[in-house]
Amino acid sequence: MSITVYRKAHFNAAHRLCKEGWDDAKNLTVFGKCSNPNYHGHNYELEVGVTGDVDRETGFLIDLKILKKIIKEEVEDSFDHKNLNLEVPEFKTLNPTVENIAMVIWNKLNDRLSDKYMVTVKLFETPRNFVVFTG
Ligand code: NI
Repeated sequence: MSITVYRKAHFNAAHRLCKEGWDDAKNLTVFGKCSNPNYHGHNYELEVGVTGDVDRETGFLIDLKILKKIIKEEVEDSFDHKNLNLEVPEFKTLNPTVENIAMVIWNKLNDRLSDKYMVTVKLFETPRNFVVFTG
């Protein structure tokens, strides 16, 4: 019997969606307003799910203090108030779409958590647009 614990987090970040080699007109056609050469911001809302079995001794699936610390170190400290394209190494050559950001976050968190857990990342770029990645 498995159960999932969730922790929410938030970060503000700037980005620009573009493909190297395409001019601004082509980028605008494909990526719309998110291709603005001068960047723009989003208020990203993150929900991290950790699925596994409850420890009979503690009644915990995972100590939420530890999950909170990992999310702070891997996501908030790296992404909050940053320009993703210019300041976050993972996006030097990777387009910072909400899909790619969610997969980068999943990899960072999954690396920090025990293999006994299944990790789910739900990332909202706007209140209505979000992705879910489970690895
Ligand atoms: Ni955008």
